[in-house]
Amino acid sequence: MEQKLLRIQARALEEMAGAKSLEELNEIRVRYLGKKGELTGVLRGMGALSPEERPRIGQIANQVRDKIEEKLNDSTARLKDRIKREKLAAESLDITLPGTVFNLGRLHPLTVVTRRIEDIFLGLGFSIAEGPEVELDYYNFEALNLPKDHPARDMQDTFFITQEVLLRTHTSPVQVRTMERTAPALPVKIIAPGKVYRRDDDATHSPMFHQVEGLAVDRRITMADLRGVLQVFAEQMFGPETRTRFRPSYFPFTEPSAEVDISCVMCGGRGCRTCSHTGWLEILGCGMVHPRVLEMSGYNSGEVTGFAFGMGVERITMLKYGIDDLRLLFENDMRFLQQF
Ligand code: DAH
Repeated sequence: MEQKLLRIQARALEEMAGAKSLEELNEIRVRYLGKKGELTGVLRGMGALSPEERPRIGQIANQVRDKIEEKLNDSTARLKDRIKREKLAAESLDITLPGTVFNLGRLHPLTVVTRRIEDIFLGLGFSIAEGPEVELDYYNFEALNLPKDHPARDMQDTFFITQEVLLRTHTSPVQVRTMERTAPALPVKIIAPGKVYRRDDDATHSPMFHQVEGLAVDRRITMADLRGVLQVFAEQMFGPETRTRFRPSYFPFTEPSAEVDISCVMCGGRGCRTCSHTGWLEILGCGMVHPRVLEMSGYNSGEVTGFAFGMGVERITMLKYGIDDLRLLFENDMRFLQQF
């Protein structure tokens, strides 16, 4: 009987070694250890043994059962592990790799600042007007009281396409185009953001840059209106503590004309390198629309007055963010642009 038990064990182990699937291993378990299994069958025959032999054979039978059980568990675990590894190896997709991070786009600082300027003036009742970048000499100069031989043209040298067609040097021609379209209706309250071009190129000048023009025409518009509007603009753009000052200046299309400074955004007016120790920073040009400009655009200068202003978006952006070289705004270096 002992021989029989040992033969069963040997056969069971051999079959296990050849098993290729979990199903086969399970069949072996049923065949040897199940209720109707071989081992159980042998143990049933123990009744025929003598009382002296029974404990010894019983012990061997237990050992055989334990051994088969242990080996079956081992083989099952090893096979499960192998199946898993084969499955992973067959995967073309490695789910343990870190994911791909996509770069989210963002607005260019010039776009952010242009939109902020638009928001402020929309809040003050202005609407947005546009004009062409390829402009007629007439709108860019002539109708702004800058006749052909006017010396102020020198400051705005530009790219000429023909004698009469050029790339606009400022957004001021949109004043004229707007007034021509609306005259004699009142009021006119527009801002005109857009690209302008000049023969300039250094750390603070680019051959292409951006301006926002402003124009208000109505009965009894005064310089006080201009001051009020620009003070509100300065506070909303640079903070409520910002002060403004008007300096007399000259533009052919306004009379009187002024340049507007804000208290330095870096030092608050005490004096520092940014403001060349003056406490002030120039941000725009402005004035009361010249009667001749009103007349050329279709308005009666005896009945209406107006104010106008023009600011450089690059300059405002550089002051707002503390950028010291204008060219950074046009290089499209992600390391720069990602800071905004
Ligand atoms: N067009 C002027 C320039 O580009 C800026 C300017 C000054 C615009 C005074 C105006 C103004 O509307 O009233 O230098």
